[in-house]
Amino acid sequence: MKIIVCRNYAEMSAESAKIVADQIKSKPDCVLGLATGSTPEGMYACLSTMHRDEKLDFSKVTSVNLDEYYPIAPDNDQSYRYFMNFHLFDKVNIDKSNTYVPDGTAEDPDKFCADYEKLIEELGGVDLQVLGIGRNAHIGFNEPGDILYPDTHLTELTPSTVEANSRFFDSVDDVPKHALTMGIASILRAKKIIVLASGKEKHNAVLKLLGNTLETKYPATMLALHHDVTLICDDAAYNG
Ligand code: F6R
Repeated sequence: MKIIVCRNYAEMSAESAKIVADQIKSKPDCVLGLATGSTPEGMYACLSTMHRDEKLDFSKVTSVNLDEYYPIAPDNDQSYRYFMNFHLFDKVNIDKSNTYVPDGTAEDPDKFCADYEKLIEELGGVDLQVLGIGRNAHIGFNEPGDILYPDTHLTELTPSTVEANSRFFDSVDDVPKHALTMGIASILRAKKIIVLASGKEKHNAVLKLLGNTLETKYPATMLALHHDVTLICDDAAYNG
C-alpha cells in the first residue's frame, strides 16, 4: 500500500483532490466511486474550487456512491444524496443524471442492491474509488463482524457507528439503523482506491489497515487484497 502522510487536514484534502483531478484529466469520462462523511468534505471543496478556477471538467464524469442510509428520503438533509449534491454535484458541471447514490427509498432493497451491482458493471466498473474509514475500521458500511458481504447489500449499523454518526442528527434516536452499502468485493473491483483518514480518532483504524492481516472484525484490512491502494492521511491519523 502506498502511504502519503500530510501535515494536516487541509493538505490531505488538497492531495486527494489532486489525485481525483488527475483521474478526470487522464480519462474525462471516468467513473468515480465516492464517499460521504466529514473526511472528504475538504477534498470536495478543493475539487469545487478547481472546477471554478481551473475549469476542471466534470461534464463526462459518472459517479457511484458507496452507501446511503436506509430508509431515508433523498431530500432529507442527512441523506447521502443531499450531502453529495451540497458538497460537490451542485458546485461542478457534472450531469446529475450520471450521479448514482443508493436509493434510501427503495421498496425492495435486495433487488435494488442487485441492480446497483449490475449498474456498476454496465458502467465499466469504477476507475477510482474514494474511501473514508470508520473508527471501527469499517469501509462503506461494511461493519466489523464474523462475516463480510462481497456485494451491495442492506446492512444493520453497529451501535458504535450509530453513535459516531449521531453528531449530524438532533438525537441518536434519529440516526437510521440500516444502510445500503457496496460490499467488500464491490469496493475491491475498483481499478484504483484511495483511503482518506484524518484525526487521532482514526489512528487505531489506520494501524489495523496497515497491519498486514485480513480480519473481518476490521473490514478495512481487506484492502490488502487490492494491488493499487493509496492511504492519504494526516499526521494525527498516522502517528496518533
Ligand atoms: C461514507 C462511508 C463511511 C465513512 C466513515 C468515516 O460514505 O462510507 O465509511 O467514510 O464512516 O466517516 P467520517 O469521514 O465522517 O469520519
